[in-house]
Amino acid sequence: MTLSHLNPDLPIGVFDSGIGGLTVVKEIKRLLPNEGIVYFGDTGRVPYGNKSKSTIIDYSLQITKFLESQGVKLIVIACNTATAHALDAVKKATHLPVIGVVDPGAKAAVHYTKSKRIGVIGTVGTVNSKAYEKAIHKLNSDMLVFSQAAPLFVPLVEEGWFTHPATSLIIREYLKPLENERIDTLVLGCTHYPLLKSAIDREVFSSITLVDSGEEVAKDVKSVLEKHKLLRVSKRTEPFQYFVSDLNFRFKELGKMFMDEPFDKVTLVEWQ
Ligand code: DGL
Repeated sequence: MTLSHLNPDLPIGVFDSGIGGLTVVKEIKRLLPNEGIVYFGDTGRVPYGNKSKSTIIDYSLQITKFLESQGVKLIVIACNTATAHALDAVKKATHLPVIGVVDPGAKAAVHYTKSKRIGVIGTVGTVNSKAYEKAIHKLNSDMLVFSQAAPLFVPLVEEGWFTHPATSLIIREYLKPLENERIDTLVLGCTHYPLLKSAIDREVFSSITLVDSGEEVAKDVKSVLEKHKLLRVSKRTEPFQYFVSDLNFRFKELGKMFMDEPFDKVTLVEWQ
């Protein structure tokens, strides 16, 4: 892959079905403060978790094209469901480097576990795809992986119910079977879930390590940019740019709360 025509000052393109990918953006910003970001949240079509593989591939290719048109230098699929279903298709469709969230999360889980009993929570799409099992077993075939779909977490996050008593109840219900399997590491296999991290932490056994792949993704972004000599050295002065497929007030409200920098540049994309 030759990317010598790309300027290191170009932004990184990041996409998710909605607000969840911001958890990844935050980690990229922490590790690579100079980098600009163009973010696409598919707020008009969220959730992705209960949709078929072919639909998710169509959406992901459409968004990839959009991000390319914005002149990005690398694409991060900050959505586990889209990574599980569409990573290969996106890689085939673009000449830009593409980073998904599943491999970095799997790597971190294998690193943290001592008992080799790993729990994974994600959307129905991610769990059914077995993407984490495959990624974890590729790293170490001795690992035991226990997966649980937690579809209600996404609307709870999109609703901003981070401390609501109903959220605690639902967390307990989903995580009980995994605790019964005596896992010592739990992968938050959906980029929405780190927004519930404190609530999940309160409800699960304290012996369980929570893995949020955002940090690992940021490290991968850094090494890919380094490899292609695309790390930005000039200081970023422009704000991140956010695009959505539905301009709802919730995205702005949660974005403002979560990102500790101005969150005003949110633009509606109307697909032709
Ligand atoms: N944030 C997405 C993920 O990481 C999915 C949420 C959804 O749209 O269902 O899987």
